[in-house]
Amino acid sequence: MKKILILFVVAALTWSCNSGNEKVVELLIPQPAKSIIKSGRFSYDSPVVWFSNNMNDTDKENLFELIKGVYPTAEITDNENASGAIRINMLPYSNNAKESYDLCVSRRAIDIDARHMAGAIYAVQTLAQLNYLNDGAIPCVIINDTPRFAYRGLHLDVSRHFYSVEFIKKQLDLLSFYKMNRLHWHLTDGAGWRIEIKKYPKLTTYAAWRPYNNWKEFWFGERLYCDQNDPKAKGGYYTQDDVREVVEYAQKLNITVIPEIEMPGHSDEVLAAYPNLSCSGKPYTSGEVCIGNEDTYKFLTDILSEVCELFPSEYIHIGGDEADHKAWSKCPKCQNTIRKNGLKNEHELQSYLIQKIETFLSTKGKKLIGWDEIIEGGLSPYATVMAWRGEAGGIKAAQMGHDAIMTPGNWLYFDAYQDNPATEPEAIGGYLPLSRVYSYEPVPDSLTIDEKARIIGVQANLWTEYISTEEHVEYMLYPRLLALAELGWCMAEAKDWDRFLPAANRHLDILEKKGVNAHQISNSVIATEVVDTTKQVIELSFRCDKMPVDIRYTNDGSEPTSKSTLYKSPISIKDSAIIKVAIFEEDERITDVQTFTPLYHKGIGKKVSYNIPHCSHYVAKGAATLTDGYNGGASYGDGSWQGFNKDVDVVVDMGEVTDINAIEVNFMQQAGPWIWFPEYVDIYMSDDAENWRKIKHIDNDVPRDTEGLLIQDFGFTGKERCRYIRYTAHQLPKEGAYMFIDEIKIK
Ligand code: ACM
Ligand code: ZN
Repeated sequence: MKKILILFVVAALTWSCNSGNEKVVELLIPQPAKSIIKSGRFSYDSPVVWFSNNMNDTDKENLFELIKGVYPTAEITDNENASGAIRINMLPYSNNAKESYDLCVSRRAIDIDARHMAGAIYAVQTLAQLNYLNDGAIPCVIINDTPRFAYRGLHLDVSRHFYSVEFIKKQLDLLSFYKMNRLHWHLTDGAGWRIEIKKYPKLTTYAAWRPYNNWKEFWFGERLYCDQNDPKAKGGYYTQDDVREVVEYAQKLNITVIPEIEMPGHSDEVLAAYPNLSCSGKPYTSGEVCIGNEDTYKFLTDILSEVCELFPSEYIHIGGDEADHKAWSKCPKCQNTIRKNGLKNEHELQSYLIQKIETFLSTKGKKLIGWDEIIEGGLSPYATVMAWRGEAGGIKAAQMGHDAIMTPGNWLYFDAYQDNPATEPEAIGGYLPLSRVYSYEPVPDSLTIDEKARIIGVQANLWTEYISTEEHVEYMLYPRLLALAELGWCMAEAKDWDRFLPAANRHLDILEKKGVNAHQISNSVIATEVVDTTKQVIELSFRCDKMPVDIRYTNDGSEPTSKSTLYKSPISIKDSAIIKVAIFEEDERITDVQTFTPLYHKGIGKKVSYNIPHCSHYVAKGAATLTDGYNGGASYGDGSWQGFNKDVDVVVDMGEVTDINAIEVNFMQQAGPWIWFPEYVDIYMSDDAENWRKIKHIDNDVPRDTEGLLIQDFGFTGKERCRYIRYTAHQLPKEGAYMFIDEIKIK
């Protein structure tokens, strides 16, 4: 009996220790492919490092330097059996396991098996994370790890604002810590040229400098460049020595730096310095280089020759996005090139240039990557396509036989707001919280198995128009980059938000220790409503991304206290309710009270017909959108907002004559993407859909240039009865503008 008891106690202790270890391993980001949890810890502060003798000195040195980042007092040993040894064992090379590694932590030693430096580097990064996560005691565990995608990238725009070499190196450290392996360095764009080119010095003595404090002043001002020595000059560039330093630093972390040299559009800065390359021959007239001018080809290939020398990357990114055709269509040289080469139009003119550049790059042993526009006029199969305008470009590219990298704006543009735009620093627009990044699946179901294999990876893009400081760059990158890291590394079925979120919370402490200015996960309550039209109720659920927390709530209008109901599962709301929630730590309320007013309104499920159609891009859920019970959120692309590029003129049929006490219709305004409130609204009612009476006219008095994201109700309250409601909104006259409305709530 005693023996059984002892065995039981030992088993229980082992289990509790294993479960502690398991909790630590669950906090690794990205989560390893496979792990077996053991009991015990490796707790040496000054381990010794042993290398298998098939490794060269440079590799040993690099790895030892990385290990010293985890254990500053570590030393090298030739005693394989020393206690407290970290043993690096390089196995025979295998091309398809370059980044894989096995890590076996026991109480006395840590074994790292890899087939390439990349795998060994990642094993050490895993070790580094475990060390942070458990304060120096590494849990005993066996990890067999391998990535899902070969390409796991971050794009950083250094044209709109310039960031220092030290800062780039800090980001490389962080990328490698999260097992990301590509930095797509957006070195040139209309707002500034950032790489020294020996043959064309004006690119960096002139086109890298602006007489403004930041991009906004430049863009909304005269968009001028200035001489480097101008007292007002702001900007900068990387010398070729800087570039070599960054590239070499990245290589030691298993990161390939892919330079982007933008062409033929986004080249205003080039043409300011070398106006002979524009169609007009003058600066500041267009952002596109003249393709009909032989000097352009010489200029671009001269630059690429220097770039190819500097970057060992197999790939060179040549941009290719958003070129305007206006200047080419009026340029005799461009038109002559179209005629001479039997090209159909300006799309093919762009392709003509890209294909020549691709051929040139191939003579340097390089392959071309471009934004998804590059497939529009035909392309060689060796070119890789970066899909940014949604996923369509990546899907099409894979179907055409190209490799593709997914960077769709709606999930992976880190310049969008990550939290409530009202309380965040100004951003370019959109709404991309951590949870949305995490929800992205890079391989579309619609592809065949072969096509799926051509999706070689994912990348997030950080455009920096509104990001003038290095602190702000970090604020936009972290913690969203942690979600990106899992998209790139973990198999789709291994992704788990409920595991990831506590881990991301924990990593914010690590990021703080590393001196990173990360966005702090908000402790506000996020409410989700599910409309159940069968039961005619709204299921209201709450979550908070900040962890750990208790959400408590009331439904009688009172302020929640530590005695109020603890939220555990969704709440059913029959007609309407006032729910007040707050976050508690122990007995203390630590946040403001938030109030939610879910409403199962009278219009839910009622038929909407359109006298004027909504636009074809922002369809949301079609005719069901405006009466589906779901309210548009902070992003006009969230599938609830419906876009109109003409007037709104819709009729809701209530099915029978109904008492109407209020109609509430929200509009969005966001000046950046030309989304404006209506000029005015008229609301009509009728019992037969023929004889209408106007019951309300509303003029808009919000100025068009108001900054930020605005949501406003253009509705009505009163006492009416009718069967049909006709809601009309007059668009402010402006080509290319939109109105966005959501949910016609009828009370
Ligand atoms: C892009 O966002 N223009 C690639
Ligand atoms: Zn031209």
